[in-house]
Amino acid sequence: MSSVKEQLIENLIEEDKVSQNKVTIVGTGAVGMACAICILLKDLADELALIDVVADKLKGETMDLQHGSLFFNTPKIISGKDYSVSANSRLVIITAGARQQEGESRLNLVQRNVDIMKSAIPAIVQNSPDCKMLIVSNPVDILTYVVWKLSGLPATRVIGSGCNLDSARFRYLIGQKLGVHPSSCHGWIIGEHGDSSGICV
Ligand SMILES: NC(=O)c1ccc[n+]([C@@H]2O[C@H](COP(=O)([O-])OP(=O)(O)OC[C@H]3O[C@@H](n4cnc5c(N)ncnc54)[C@H](O)[C@@H]3O)[C@@H](O)[C@H]2O)c1
Repeated sequence: MSSVKEQLIENLIEEDKVSQNKVTIVGTGAVGMACAICILLKDLADELALIDVVADKLKGETMDLQHGSLFFNTPKIISGKDYSVSANSRLVIITAGARQQEGESRLNLVQRNVDIMKSAIPAIVQNSPDCKMLIVSNPVDILTYVVWKLSGLPATRVIGSGCNLDSARFRYLIGQKLGVHPSSCHGWIIGEHGDSSGICV
Protein backbone atom coordinates (compact mmCIF):
# COMPACT_ATOMS: atom_id res chain seq x y z
CA MET A 1 0.00 0.00 0.00
CA SER A 2 1.37 3.48 -0.87
CA SER A 3 2.20 5.94 1.91
CA VAL A 4 0.32 9.20 2.48
CA LYS A 5 3.36 11.07 1.12
CA GLU A 6 3.35 9.00 -2.07
CA GLN A 7 -0.38 9.60 -2.47
CA LEU A 8 0.00 13.35 -2.00
CA ILE A 9 3.09 13.96 -4.14
CA GLU A 10 3.01 13.15 -7.81
CA ASN A 11 6.45 12.81 -9.38
CA LEU A 12 6.56 14.70 -12.67
CA ILE A 13 9.67 12.84 -13.84
CA GLU A 14 11.19 9.53 -12.95
CA GLU A 15 14.57 9.88 -11.24
CA ASP A 16 17.50 9.55 -13.68
CA LYS A 17 15.14 9.29 -16.65
CA VAL A 18 17.00 9.97 -19.90
CA SER A 19 15.38 12.76 -21.91
CA GLN A 20 13.79 11.68 -25.17
CA ASN A 21 13.19 15.13 -26.63
CA LYS A 22 16.05 17.29 -25.44
CA VAL A 23 16.59 20.59 -27.27
CA THR A 24 19.74 22.70 -26.93
CA ILE A 25 19.93 26.34 -27.94
CA VAL A 26 23.40 27.78 -28.61
CA GLY A 27 23.35 31.57 -28.16
CA THR A 28 20.97 33.13 -25.66
CA GLY A 29 20.50 36.51 -27.31
CA ALA A 30 17.23 37.88 -28.65
CA VAL A 31 16.67 35.03 -31.12
CA GLY A 32 17.83 32.22 -28.82
CA MET A 33 15.54 33.32 -26.01
CA ALA A 34 12.58 33.77 -28.36
CA CYS A 35 13.17 30.16 -29.49
CA ALA A 36 13.42 29.00 -25.87
CA ILE A 37 10.12 30.57 -24.84
CA CYS A 38 8.30 29.22 -27.92
CA ILE A 39 9.65 25.70 -27.28
CA LEU A 40 8.57 25.83 -23.63
CA LEU A 41 5.11 27.24 -24.31
CA LYS A 42 4.47 24.68 -27.05
CA ASP A 43 5.70 21.72 -24.91
CA LEU A 44 8.18 20.68 -27.57
CA ALA A 45 10.94 19.40 -25.26
CA ASP A 46 11.29 17.33 -22.11
CA GLU A 47 14.64 19.01 -21.43
CA LEU A 48 15.98 22.37 -22.55
CA ALA A 49 19.69 23.28 -22.44
CA LEU A 50 21.11 26.74 -23.09
CA ILE A 51 24.72 27.54 -24.04
CA ASP A 52 26.40 30.94 -24.35
CA VAL A 53 29.86 32.40 -23.85
CA VAL A 54 28.65 35.26 -21.61
CA ALA A 55 28.25 33.49 -18.28
CA ASP A 56 26.29 36.10 -16.26
CA LYS A 57 23.78 36.73 -19.04
CA LEU A 58 23.36 32.99 -19.51
CA LYS A 59 22.74 32.52 -15.80
CA GLY A 60 20.15 35.32 -15.72
CA GLU A 61 18.28 34.04 -18.77
CA THR A 62 18.29 30.49 -17.39
CA MET A 63 16.96 31.60 -14.01
CA ASP A 64 14.17 33.59 -15.69
CA LEU A 65 13.05 30.45 -17.54
CA GLN A 66 13.44 28.21 -14.50
CA HIS A 67 11.38 30.63 -12.40
CA GLY A 68 8.66 30.44 -15.05
CA SER A 69 8.47 26.64 -14.65
CA LEU A 70 5.07 27.01 -13.03
CA PHE A 71 3.72 27.87 -16.48
CA PHE A 72 5.62 25.19 -18.47
CA ASN A 73 5.54 21.39 -18.62
CA THR A 74 9.24 20.98 -19.44
CA PRO A 75 10.69 19.58 -16.21
CA LYS A 76 14.38 20.26 -16.80
CA ILE A 77 16.01 23.54 -17.87
CA ILE A 78 19.81 23.64 -17.64
CA SER A 79 22.65 25.77 -18.98
CA GLY A 80 26.39 26.14 -19.14
CA LYS A 81 29.32 27.41 -21.17
CA ASP A 82 30.54 23.86 -21.68
CA TYR A 83 28.99 21.76 -24.44
CA SER A 84 28.59 18.81 -22.11
CA VAL A 85 25.25 20.36 -21.03
CA SER A 86 23.98 19.64 -24.56
CA ALA A 87 24.64 15.89 -24.31
CA ASN A 88 21.97 13.63 -25.79
CA SER A 89 20.11 16.44 -27.60
CA ARG A 90 17.63 15.52 -30.27
CA LEU A 91 17.71 19.02 -31.74
CA VAL A 92 20.38 21.73 -31.48
CA ILE A 93 19.41 25.25 -32.56
CA ILE A 94 22.33 27.55 -33.43
CA THR A 95 21.62 31.24 -32.86
CA ALA A 96 25.09 32.20 -31.59
CA GLY A 97 27.09 34.99 -33.07
CA ALA A 98 27.21 38.51 -34.27
CA ARG A 99 24.17 40.14 -35.82
CA GLN A 100 24.34 42.83 -38.45
CA GLN A 101 24.41 46.49 -37.44
CA GLU A 102 22.25 49.08 -39.19
CA GLY A 103 23.20 49.23 -42.86
CA GLU A 104 25.47 46.19 -42.58
CA SER A 105 24.87 43.21 -44.88
CA ARG A 106 24.38 39.71 -43.43
CA LEU A 107 27.31 38.60 -45.59
CA ASN A 108 29.63 40.86 -43.54
CA LEU A 109 29.14 38.56 -40.56
CA VAL A 110 30.47 35.51 -42.31
CA GLN A 111 34.03 35.23 -40.98
CA ARG A 112 33.14 36.02 -37.36
CA ASN A 113 30.32 33.50 -37.35
CA VAL A 114 32.24 30.80 -39.27
CA ASP A 115 34.91 31.01 -36.53
CA ILE A 116 32.21 30.44 -33.89
CA MET A 117 30.91 27.40 -35.81
CA LYS A 118 34.44 25.96 -36.03
CA SER A 119 34.66 25.86 -32.25
CA ALA A 120 31.03 24.90 -31.54
CA ILE A 121 30.11 22.24 -34.09
CA PRO A 122 32.67 19.50 -33.25
CA ALA A 123 31.71 19.77 -29.56
CA ILE A 124 27.99 19.56 -30.38
CA VAL A 125 28.44 16.47 -32.56
CA GLN A 126 30.67 14.82 -29.99
CA ASN A 127 28.00 15.26 -27.30
CA SER A 128 24.96 14.52 -29.48
CA PRO A 129 25.99 12.41 -32.49
CA ASP A 130 22.34 11.63 -33.35
CA CYS A 131 21.03 15.20 -33.22
CA LYS A 132 19.50 17.32 -35.93
CA MET A 133 20.75 20.91 -36.22
CA LEU A 134 18.75 23.99 -37.04
CA ILE A 135 20.89 26.94 -38.08
CA VAL A 136 19.60 30.48 -37.59
CA SER A 137 22.80 32.57 -37.29
CA ASN A 138 23.56 34.75 -40.30
CA PRO A 139 24.44 34.60 -43.10
CA VAL A 140 22.22 31.60 -42.59
CA ASP A 141 22.55 29.86 -45.96
CA ILE A 142 26.35 30.01 -45.95
CA LEU A 143 26.57 28.98 -42.29
CA THR A 144 24.21 26.04 -42.84
CA TYR A 145 26.57 24.75 -45.53
CA VAL A 146 29.59 25.36 -43.26
CA VAL A 147 27.91 23.54 -40.35
CA TRP A 148 26.99 20.62 -42.58
CA LYS A 149 30.63 20.30 -43.69
CA LEU A 150 32.06 20.76 -40.18
CA SER A 151 29.59 18.31 -38.60
CA GLY A 152 29.99 15.39 -40.98
CA LEU A 153 26.25 14.75 -40.49
CA PRO A 154 23.97 13.77 -43.40
CA ALA A 155 22.49 16.79 -45.20
CA THR A 156 19.02 15.78 -44.00
CA ARG A 157 20.06 16.50 -40.40
CA VAL A 158 21.42 20.03 -40.93
CA ILE A 159 18.63 22.50 -41.69
CA GLY A 160 18.83 26.26 -42.20
CA SER A 161 15.96 28.55 -41.28
CA GLY A 162 16.22 29.93 -44.83
CA CYS A 163 13.52 32.38 -45.84
CA ASN A 164 10.92 31.30 -43.26
CA LEU A 165 11.10 34.65 -41.50
CA ASP A 166 10.94 36.56 -44.79
CA SER A 167 7.92 34.51 -45.89
CA ALA A 168 6.14 35.14 -42.57
CA ARG A 169 6.81 38.87 -42.93
CA PHE A 170 5.56 38.80 -46.51
CA ARG A 171 2.34 37.01 -45.53
CA TYR A 172 1.80 39.49 -42.68
CA LEU A 173 2.19 42.45 -45.05
CA ILE A 174 -0.20 40.94 -47.63
CA GLY A 175 -2.65 40.27 -44.79
CA GLN A 176 -2.40 43.89 -43.66
CA LYS A 177 -3.04 45.10 -47.19
CA LEU A 178 -6.07 42.80 -47.69
CA GLY A 179 -7.40 43.06 -44.14
CA VAL A 180 -7.20 39.28 -43.52
CA HIS A 181 -5.16 37.03 -41.24
CA PRO A 182 -1.70 36.02 -42.61
CA SER A 183 -2.73 32.33 -42.45
CA SER A 184 -5.17 33.10 -45.28
CA CYS A 185 -2.43 34.66 -47.42
CA HIS A 186 -0.08 32.31 -49.23
CA GLY A 187 3.28 32.98 -50.79
CA TRP A 188 6.94 32.44 -50.22
CA ILE A 189 10.11 34.41 -50.29
CA ILE A 190 12.66 32.16 -51.97
CA GLY A 191 16.40 32.18 -52.55
CA GLU A 192 18.99 33.56 -50.17
CA HIS A 193 17.89 34.83 -46.75
CA GLY A 194 19.49 38.14 -47.55
CA ASP A 195 19.54 40.97 -50.02
CA SER A 196 18.98 38.80 -53.10
CA SER A 197 15.81 36.94 -52.03
CA GLY A 198 12.72 37.08 -54.25
CA ILE A 199 8.93 36.72 -54.08
CA CYS A 200 7.03 33.59 -55.21
CA VAL A 201 3.20 33.64 -55.18
N1 LIG B 1 17.81 33.30 -39.95
C1 LIG B 1 17.00 34.28 -39.54
O1 LIG B 1 15.87 34.42 -40.02
C2 LIG B 1 17.50 35.23 -38.48
C3 LIG B 1 16.64 36.16 -37.89
C4 LIG B 1 17.14 37.01 -36.90
C5 LIG B 1 18.49 36.93 -36.54
N2 LIG B 1 19.30 36.02 -37.15
C6 LIG B 1 20.70 35.88 -36.77
O2 LIG B 1 20.76 35.15 -35.55
C7 LIG B 1 21.94 35.52 -34.84
C8 LIG B 1 21.58 35.94 -33.43
O3 LIG B 1 20.81 37.13 -33.45
P1 LIG B 1 20.40 37.83 -32.07
O4 LIG B 1 19.55 38.97 -32.45
O5 LIG B 1 19.91 36.81 -31.12
O6 LIG B 1 21.83 38.36 -31.59
P2 LIG B 1 22.27 38.69 -30.09
O7 LIG B 1 23.49 39.55 -30.21
O8 LIG B 1 21.11 39.17 -29.30
O9 LIG B 1 22.69 37.26 -29.49
C9 LIG B 1 23.79 36.52 -29.94
C10 LIG B 1 24.23 35.66 -28.76
O10 LIG B 1 25.28 34.79 -29.21
C11 LIG B 1 26.20 34.66 -28.15
N3 LIG B 1 27.47 34.16 -28.63
C12 LIG B 1 28.46 34.83 -29.28
N4 LIG B 1 29.48 33.99 -29.53
C13 LIG B 1 29.13 32.77 -29.04
C14 LIG B 1 29.77 31.51 -28.99
N5 LIG B 1 30.99 31.32 -29.50
N6 LIG B 1 29.14 30.48 -28.40
C15 LIG B 1 27.89 30.65 -27.84
N7 LIG B 1 27.23 31.83 -27.87
C16 LIG B 1 27.85 32.88 -28.46
C17 LIG B 1 26.27 36.07 -27.57
O11 LIG B 1 26.84 36.09 -26.26
C18 LIG B 1 24.80 36.47 -27.59
O12 LIG B 1 24.13 36.12 -26.39
C19 LIG B 1 22.60 36.63 -35.67
O13 LIG B 1 23.60 36.07 -36.49
C20 LIG B 1 21.44 37.18 -36.50
O14 LIG B 1 21.88 37.82 -37.68
C21 LIG B 1 18.83 35.17 -38.10
